[in-house]
Amino acid sequence: MQAPPQRLRVWDLPVRIFHWALVALVVSQIVTVSIGGNAMEYHVLGGYAILSLVAFRIVWGLIGTRAARFTNFVRGPRAVLRYALSLNRADVEHHPGHNPLGGWSVMAMLASLVVQAVSGLFADDEIMTTGPLWKYVSEDTASLFNVIHETNALVLLTLICVHLAAILFYLVRKKQNLIVPMFTGSKPVSGPDAESLRPLEGTLRAIVVLTICAAVTLAIVTI
Ligand code: HEM
Ligand code: HEM
Repeated sequence: MQAPPQRLRVWDLPVRIFHWALVALVVSQIVTVSIGGNAMEYHVLGGYAILSLVAFRIVWGLIGTRAARFTNFVRGPRAVLRYALSLNRADVEHHPGHNPLGGWSVMAMLASLVVQAVSGLFADDEIMTTGPLWKYVSEDTASLFNVIHETNALVLLTLICVHLAAILFYLVRKKQNLIVPMFTGSKPVSGPDAESLRPLEGTLRAIVVLTICAAVTLAIVTI
């Protein structure tokens, strides 16, 4: 019989701050684009912030704490299929991070965010706002980036809806609250080698990584 799950700190502070800052910024992107006009200035700035955050998260997926690493949650098709087939069972698996399906949904959201923020750099609203790199591409290329920016916005929104539906499914069907751990960092985890993070583990390293990512973004958008 499996040992009962223990409550362990799995999400480091940088991942939690990354998540809730990203949520606020994506909402703000939708609001600013809906208002239009001068609010587009904030849309552009918000886009830079998202680009820095997503670049940070990609680096953090390589050198972050255990649960944050891609190697911990990007699983092969066999593990994903096995997990997907067990989804409708009422019992729960307590993963020390994202589950095999959730891992791919995270990767899909990160990829879509990269496409959205990068295409925005070349986009043009044909009124008063252009991305900072728009001037370096031809008119045809700029309109291609516009199409990518508009189409991928729908892809991103769809992925976010799937993300929210999945979280609701875990809450209602599996009675597993994944939301509180994204605030506190701690969740029930089973498995013999599961370990708790120290309270501020990785924070200093994360500040260095985020500063570098923000500096690189700033350099790109001001060339
Ligand atoms: C992940 C971040 C971003 C999100 C979620 C986002 C979202 C959106 C959405 C939903 C639209 C309206 C598309 C439509 O008309 O159907 C839009 C338009 C626009 N965005 Fe963004 N955007 C992001 C990043 C950026 C960045 C970084 C820039 C520029 C630096 C930018 C510049 C523009 C411009 C110029 C438009 C108007 C042109 C167009 O409609 O394609 N965006 N954005
Ligand atoms: C703009 C909307 C959102 C976006 C773009 C987004 C994106 C993400 C991303 C990228 C992750 C992976 C975190 C990481 O490993 O660094 C994640 C995880 C998570 N998000 Fe969101 N999120 C959004 C909204 C929300 C909302 C509103 C909630 C709460 C109701 C939420 C709850 C969670 C939870 C609980 C996890 C961890 C899931 C797990 O335990 O595997 N998200 N989200």
